[in-house]
Amino acid sequence: MSSCTHTVKGTGKSRYTVKCMKRVCFPILLLVFCCFAEDVHPITHRRIAQVMGVGGADWLVRPEREAEEHPDQALDALKLPKGAVVADIGAGVGYFTWRLAERVGPSGIVYGEEIQQEMLDLLAKNMSARKLRNVRMVLGTIDDPKLPKDALDLVLLVDVYHEFSEPEKMVDRIRESLKPNGRMVLLEYRGEDPKVPIRPEHKMTVDQVRAELQPQGFRFVQSIEILPQQHILIFRK
Ligand SMILES: C[S@@+](CC[C@H](N)C(=O)[O-])C[C@H]1O[C@@H](n2cnc3c(N)ncnc32)[C@H](O)[C@@H]1O
Repeated sequence: MSSCTHTVKGTGKSRYTVKCMKRVCFPILLLVFCCFAEDVHPITHRRIAQVMGVGGADWLVRPEREAEEHPDQALDALKLPKGAVVADIGAGVGYFTWRLAERVGPSGIVYGEEIQQEMLDLLAKNMSARKLRNVRMVLGTIDDPKLPKDALDLVLLVDVYHEFSEPEKMVDRIRESLKPNGRMVLLEYRGEDPKVPIRPEHKMTVDQVRAELQPQGFRFVQSIEILPQQHILIFRK
């Protein structure tokens, strides 16, 4: 008798039926697991945060944000020269983009990059309300910010890196867009501090960021700790 017709003890089913069930059920279970498993970074295994939708646009310009984040003090620390070419990746509605544009002046360029067209539309409104003409809007994808290569002095990521669903691909593309010795700067809520009232996957520790970025060809320069709740993390290409 062939194995297909053997009855498996206690089930009343043939071995063939049991084999078929295993063949069908295992891939289905794997698919269900993959759909519901949370994305984690392959090096640090931190949970990757959900992307903030355009519904959060008002929160990005909440009046108390200046007192909470000291955006101008953060940018002072970067000592950006006039004429610099910079990118604000995951720019949202442009809270940092317009500040960058004012700092680099008309001889500089700011690429305001986003993956959500609705955010870019609000960013464009905010720039024209301020009569800023040195901002170029860029619609990127989750794995490519679509920036020019070897062109940028600085790339700024404010409260964004922890949302990258394809962090390694994004960082590779960012690295390509920087000039030699160009800077990549991250502002991230302090993951080391339990008193910072932000969900854990939206915070990062200095060790986590270094562990993820250094293997991708970035040199850690310093962490500036002058902001109430966030690290300013500076890397060079
Ligand atoms: C919390 S908001 C911060 C916006 C802005 N940087 C600010 O501080 O006002 C995060 C933004 O990052 C964007 N984002 C998430 N993943 C991205 C990616 N892979 N590339 C570009 N932007 C991304 C989201 O669309 C969202 O607008």
